[in-house]
Amino acid sequence: MTRITLRRPDDMHLHLRDGAMLQAVLPESARHFARAIVMPNLVPPVVTGAEAAAYRDRITAAVPEGFAFEPLMTLYLTEATDPADVAAAAASGLVKAVKLYPAGATTNSQSGVRDFDKVRGVLERMAAIGLPLCVHGEVTDPSVDIFDREAIFIDRVLEPIRRATPGLRVVMEHITTKEGVDYVRSQGDDMAGTITTHHLIINRNHILAGGIRPHYYCLPVAKREHHRLALRAAATRGGGRFFLGTDSAPHPDHLKEHACGCAGCFTATNTMAILAHVFEEEAALDRLEAFTSLDGAAFYGFAPNQGTITLEKRDTPARWPEKIDTGAGPVTVFDPGFPVHWEVVD
Ligand code: DOR
Ligand code: ZN
Repeated sequence: MTRITLRRPDDMHLHLRDGAMLQAVLPESARHFARAIVMPNLVPPVVTGAEAAAYRDRITAAVPEGFAFEPLMTLYLTEATDPADVAAAAASGLVKAVKLYPAGATTNSQSGVRDFDKVRGVLERMAAIGLPLCVHGEVTDPSVDIFDREAIFIDRVLEPIRRATPGLRVVMEHITTKEGVDYVRSQGDDMAGTITTHHLIINRNHILAGGIRPHYYCLPVAKREHHRLALRAAATRGGGRFFLGTDSAPHPDHLKEHACGCAGCFTATNTMAILAHVFEEEAALDRLEAFTSLDGAAFYGFAPNQGTITLEKRDTPARWPEKIDTGAGPVTVFDPGFPVHWEVVD
């Protein structure tokens, strides 16, 4: 197969930021994606329905002429979140999910949750109205090795929350481990997992062997090779339980190439081309559409997009800019490290 047409994809986990960065990175997603679940970890975070409405309006205003892009808004869960505000924002159709960051787990997560009992009322209300919880699944206990934080989160945090809140729909986001894959697979249809593009490509050697490569550093950090292979199996043969959430997370180069570099890989520009490459390698091009365009929408209860995109495999490798210029400084586009011959052509 050298040409494939898919329903227009959805990115079920995306960082668009705000201001100059938003202006610069939004076209990179809107070029290929019809919709995205937009992360709320701005500074300050998007906590209330009113803040989400204002952020949605800033995003919509930044969509370039000729593009159609719908931001699917989320609220940042804090210990002070008001269940009634969440319910009203969901009922109005504005908000599609609530995001749980364990406090201190990642970029701008300081306002996240420390004591899970304090968000019990919100979670119960969400279960009652069917509003999904998107989870950054890493424990923050400093004594836990960073490569074990996802697996331990499942037993220490995720299972207890789900047992205490029957019916809560949960997305374990950007899973990076075989344990994450196995957990999602073992649960019912109120549980799903998103997988990023970069975690299908890199393992921890890419970050650390032969020199430290800050543009491959993200959270959850890439793990050993057998985890990457489990993610590839889940993305291509996951039975509808795993779908694309790129976690494309722009940081300007000077904050990535830094003594204390920020976490995040910027993949919006070349995600679809790289995914076609991966799915072809896995002899699963026929399941690419489910991963990028159908299964996520089905989990969230959205109709699939009407439009399509077409990818073609070319003799010469695809080219994309090495960096995106933003008013906040250049942002390096994820380098898969091998030539990609697939390109979005329409
Ligand atoms: O690598 C990451 N970058 N992981 C996250 O969880 C947050 C994100 C960001 O906002 O930069
Ligand atoms: Zn993220």
